[in-house]
Parts: sequence; structure tokens; C-alpha cells
Amino acid sequence: MSDNQETSDADEDTTPAGSATLPLRPPCDRLPCHKSSVCSRSYFVVVMVFFHVYIINVILLLFYVHYNSGQEDASRSRDAPSSNHQRPESRRPPSKPEFLRDVSLTRLEGIRVGHVQKVSLVPGKVHEMRTLSMKPLLFEIPGFLSEDECRVVMQLAQLKGLIESQLMVQDGQEELAKELNLSPEEIFNLLDINQDGQLQLHEILTHSRVRDGIWLTPENLREIYAGLKADKDGNGLLSLEEFRLLSNDAFQRFLLQQGVKRSQLVRNSRHTWLYQGKGAHQALQDIKTKVTRLTRLPPALVDLSEPLQVVRYEEGGHYHAHHDSGPVYPETACTHTRLAANTSTPFETSCRYITVLFYLNSVEGGGETAFPVADNRTYDEVSLIQNDVDLLDTRRNCDKSNLRVKPTKGTAVFWYNYLSDGRGWVGEQDEYALHGGCMVTHGTKWVANKWINIDPDYQRQARYQQLVSQHSEDEDDEGLTPNPDIQSSNIHQDL
Ligand code: OGA
Ligand code: CA
Ligand code: FE2
Repeated sequence: MSDNQETSDADEDTTPAGSATLPLRPPCDRLPCHKSSVCSRSYFVVVMVFFHVYIINVILLLFYVHYNSGQEDASRSRDAPSSNHQRPESRRPPSKPEFLRDVSLTRLEGIRVGHVQKVSLVPGKVHEMRTLSMKPLLFEIPGFLSEDECRVVMQLAQLKGLIESQLMVQDGQEELAKELNLSPEEIFNLLDINQDGQLQLHEILTHSRVRDGIWLTPENLREIYAGLKADKDGNGLLSLEEFRLLSNDAFQRFLLQQGVKRSQLVRNSRHTWLYQGKGAHQALQDIKTKVTRLTRLPPALVDLSEPLQVVRYEEGGHYHAHHDSGPVYPETACTHTRLAANTSTPFETSCRYITVLFYLNSVEGGGETAFPVADNRTYDEVSLIQNDVDLLDTRRNCDKSNLRVKPTKGTAVFWYNYLSDGRGWVGEQDEYALHGGCMVTHGTKWVANKWINIDPDYQRQARYQQLVSQHSEDEDDEGLTPNPDIQSSNIHQDL
């Protein structure tokens, strides 16, 4: 608004608020009064009053405009997703730039189980994608990989060499217990999920897997009780008194004495990693491109994810039910962004937002991928092990899983390990994404995993990507994807 306009507004007698009662007359009436002093004085007073009221109004108007736009700015920055992202302390030192959340993650729609949608992954070809479950959101795409791609991936993996997916014995558990400095009472209390003062078999089983990587069955445990004479009253439960008499690693030591077989581990397979960046075999780059098209995620996110993991199960191989990525608490760091975040935290997970699992061969017998709680109405962790039936045990109880996918050469399945936060980013872990590889009963089984790593903390993900892009500008180097053998091998959350 220019000064000119303001003046002309006054001339046009727009009657600003507050001046409505002033006895204004048309200018032609005012002019004859000019020579009379009384008339001219009152005229002067009227003009001055009018003038002042007008000025005050203009000032108030300016204040109003200024105040309002200030508020708009404030509310705009309040709504900005970047500052909304669990960060009440939005004013932070400029050394860590705040990134405006300008990326929204596409999440495919399942519609309903059995729904088929067409997807375009390669020019001139249409694939069909079938919804297998809504919880977790899980799809199947037959013919995702060509025969050649399957063959090349298996050959490259063999050329590189596969390593045992899980070492026979994991050390360091005793140190961890010592570090935490827990008394037997405290440990007992943690284990006693239903707080009835007794340890049921399933309470011990759940705990033991997290700690030792040795898969215990209820029968194993009874043998251990008998061998250690742990259950003195023979009721199949451990009381606090009975528990106190056991040393911290009594179970593990007993098992080691007996000799642990591969089949007693959480995971019985061999694997290797294949990089998919610049210079990699064309088949590997093509697979990455197809994964980007399938998931409809920004290519940079797929590029910066873990390499392709190729897994081989021999006859008798298995992988008990697990989550590919763990829950995220405020203090949890993601493996891939941890360095950029520049913080130290005791909790770390791989933040695998999506798993794309490829079947590289058709398995003669067994080897299905099982989803024990898919599309359950509710999720109840305790009831996963009941009456000696352990739904997580993929050697014994795959037939009781809600959903099993048969390995068929070239088929891909993919699912989301995390829910959406409702605002286009990664939300909480999806506990229904629990899955495992059933025992291979005939032949061998080859699969590959493509995990897409995204930090649920947008700021950390953005900072990481910025750092990597700076780095690659400096060095024009492809070796920026995390080295999984150092950073993220064996970071599955084993139950
Ligand atoms: C995995 C996995 C399932 C399967 O490798 O993380 O869950 O069917 N594999 O092999
Ligand atoms: Ca109990
Ligand atoms: Fe898995």
C-alpha cells in the first residue's frame, strides 16, 4: 500500500473506523466557511481530529498486518515436518542444519488379500503383484527375476564365497551380564513375564534365544533341568530359590558340554554380499533398478542401502522366526546413519524399512518363508510359545504359521518391516512382520535379500545423505555403501 493511496483514501472519505460520527460535509460546503475565523477554527479542529484518527488507524492497520504475518510464519514453522519430528528443541545450533522434510515415502496399497495389481518394472513388460497379507503389508511378484538373473546372482555369490551366517557359539554374554550388574532376583523378575513368581518354560525359552543364539526347544530345556538338577521339586517350573542356585551361564555351559549342532542355532545357512553400484555386474544393477521401480522409493534411498545378501541353505537348513530390523526407541541408532549422527548409544538396529526377498531357485522340499502371525487380529508375544508348541520354530511348526510362501525361482516377495508414521515417513516397527525360513527337507535353497535402509528420524537420514553426497563429490567414489560384513552382519533381531 503506497502513501499516495492512503491519502487518496482519506480524500475519498472512506470513513475509517472511529470517524463515522464526525460531522463531515461536502467540500463545496466547507469552502465558503474558510474566511470566518470561528468557522475556520472549528474546521481546523475537525480536520485535525479526522487526520489524527486516520493516522492512528493506519498505524493500527500496519501493526495488525505485521502481527498477523509474524503469526503465520510461526505457525508455518510449527507445521513444518522437520521440526515436528519428535524434536521439541527445534532451535539447535547451526552446525547441524535442519532439513525441511521435502521427501515423502510412497507406500504401496494392499487393498485386500488376493488383490492383484499390475506393475511396470522393465520397459515393454508388465508384472503382476499380488497382496499376500495386510499385516504385515506383503506382496508377491512372480517372475520378478529372469532365469539369467537368478543364475548370475548364484554364480557371483559362489565366486565370492559364502560364510556361515551364524557362528557356532557367541561369546561375551557373561561380560554383558556382569556389565549390567544385575542380581539373580533382578534377572528372575525380568524373565518372569507374567509375574507369578515362577519361571515357565516359555519364559526361559524367549530369553535364551535373545542371549545365546542357541535355539532351545521345550525338550532341550527339560534335559538341561534334569542334567543340572535345576528343577528340584520337578514341577517343570523354576522358583526363585531354584533359579538362585544356577550360575549365569549354566544353560549355555551345559549345552556346550553336550556339543551344539548347527541345527540347534537360530540360523543355519551361509551367505555373502554383492555390491550393486557402479561397476557391478549389469544383472545386479538391473535388479536394483527394478527394486526402485517396485517400491517407488527415491532412488538415492535404494542406492545407499545395504548390498544384496545372497543366502544358501543346505538340506536341513533353516532360519527361525525373527524380525529383519528391530524396534526404534528415541535412543536407538540406525547402523547406516550412525556415523553421520555422531552420537553413541547402546541401542542399534539396521533400520530395514523394506525387505525384498528373491527366490533364486525352486526348492524340492520345504524351505517356505513363514509368517507365523500374518493377519492375526491381535499380536500376543507370549502366546507364540504355548503348550510346547513354539510358533517361532521353523524346523517344527511351519505348518502352524498363518502364511507360508513357497520358494519359486524368480519370484520376489516384499514387505514393510515398519508402519508409516502417517505423515509420509517411517513409523513404528510392524510386529506382524515376524518371519522365518522353514527347514529345507529336500535339495538346497537359494534366496537373496534386498533391504532398504531408512532412518525413522528424518533429520538423521537427511544428514547422512548429505554427508555421503559431499563425500562422493569429493572422491567420485562408489565404495560408499556400508560394508555389511563390518557394520551390519548378524544384526537381525533374533527372538
Ligand atoms: C532372511 C530370511 C527367509 C527365507 O534371510 O532374513 O528371513 O525364506 N529369510 O529364507
Ligand atoms: Ca512366570
Ligand atoms: Fe529375515
